[in-house]
Amino acid sequence: MKAIVYRQYGSVDVLKLEDVAKPIPKSDEILIRIHAAEATKSDCELRSFRFPVAWFWLPLRLAMGIRKPRRPILGSYFAGEVVAVGKDVSRFTVGDAIFGCTGLSMGAYGEYLCVSATATLVKKPNNLTYEEAAAVPLGGLNALHFMRRANIQKGETVVINGAGGSIGTFAVQLAKQMGAIVTAVDSGIKEDMLRQQGADHFVDYQKQDFAENDQAYDVIFDMVAASSYTKCIKSLKPKGRYLTANPTVYKMLRSLWTSKLSDKTAIFALAAEREDELMDLKKMIEAGEIRPVIGRVFEMQQVREAHVHVETEQRLGTVVLRITQ
Ligand SMILES: NC(=O)c1ccc[n+]([C@@H]2O[C@H](COP(=O)([O-])OP(=O)(O)OC[C@H]3O[C@@H](n4cnc5c(N)ncnc54)[C@H](OP(=O)(O)O)[C@@H]3O)[C@@H](O)[C@H]2O)c1
Repeated sequence: MKAIVYRQYGSVDVLKLEDVAKPIPKSDEILIRIHAAEATKSDCELRSFRFPVAWFWLPLRLAMGIRKPRRPILGSYFAGEVVAVGKDVSRFTVGDAIFGCTGLSMGAYGEYLCVSATATLVKKPNNLTYEEAAAVPLGGLNALHFMRRANIQKGETVVINGAGGSIGTFAVQLAKQMGAIVTAVDSGIKEDMLRQQGADHFVDYQKQDFAENDQAYDVIFDMVAASSYTKCIKSLKPKGRYLTANPTVYKMLRSLWTSKLSDKTAIFALAAEREDELMDLKKMIEAGEIRPVIGRVFEMQQVREAHVHVETEQRLGTVVLRITQ
């Protein structure tokens, strides 16, 4: 089968299209023909081994391979079709259209993928194409996790800092669904797209600091590692909640103090990517409440261009690789 492999860490030049052995499912696994995979910021970070938060480096290097990648096929978020099932699997049958995530075992940049039938997998929403469905699990699961933890009440004011990315575009839609008044913060080219997703207000971070505009908010969901913790906490109303998806050590330590010594709450988390939450997303998508935002679809052979597009941040939504038709 064809797959995009990377056998060393580095620039987009390490990504190569190769013929590799087609995997064979074990008794508790399913074999999936991958139709589409999201090209994520995290894929680019794992490829280059450069992260916005420095402490990620060591645990991830130990997990992913010290000298070179232990698992050479990137890709953790996908949509595809079940083409074989192991003898102990009853949850899926051949022909099921599914979407989901592989976690750190990756492998979705290849034509076929074997995963445990207990992985975070759900039948594809019936109103999405494979490309659209592949754009859901990363952004949707992370945004849903954090928006639920924020305990948003109707009419509350919510800032999504880094709103134009995979997670942020879902966070804007979910916060609106929860009844919030949403301020999206990102670069100016993303304003129209974010207003279409329901943002009530927009702040171009290249022109203005949302944490210095004399406004106070009930919730700040922050995906920007370099943002100022002190300014964010000062911008919260009493009983406000600050949530960060990209926690530096400094922010983690400060979070503990904030939650202990004030009426504000600071939360850092690595979102567990759970099947029940993926099922909730599927239902919301089928009910027409939320939708993935696709910036561009690239063919598998264009993977280098896709990564450059993600890394240079000119995209207006999620970037998807078409793996097989
Ligand atoms: N905690 C978790 O469980 C978890 C899980 C997955 C990912 N993450 C991390 O969360 C981050 C967001 O993920 P993602 O996939 O949504 O990334 P993404 O798609 O790259 O989105 C990040 C967005 O933030 C914008 N941005 C950059 N600098 C900014 C600033 N100073 N102020 C406001 N916006 C800014 C970017 O726009 P421009 O660059 O165009 O300006 C981009 O639109 C990533 O760093 C990822 O590693 C955390």
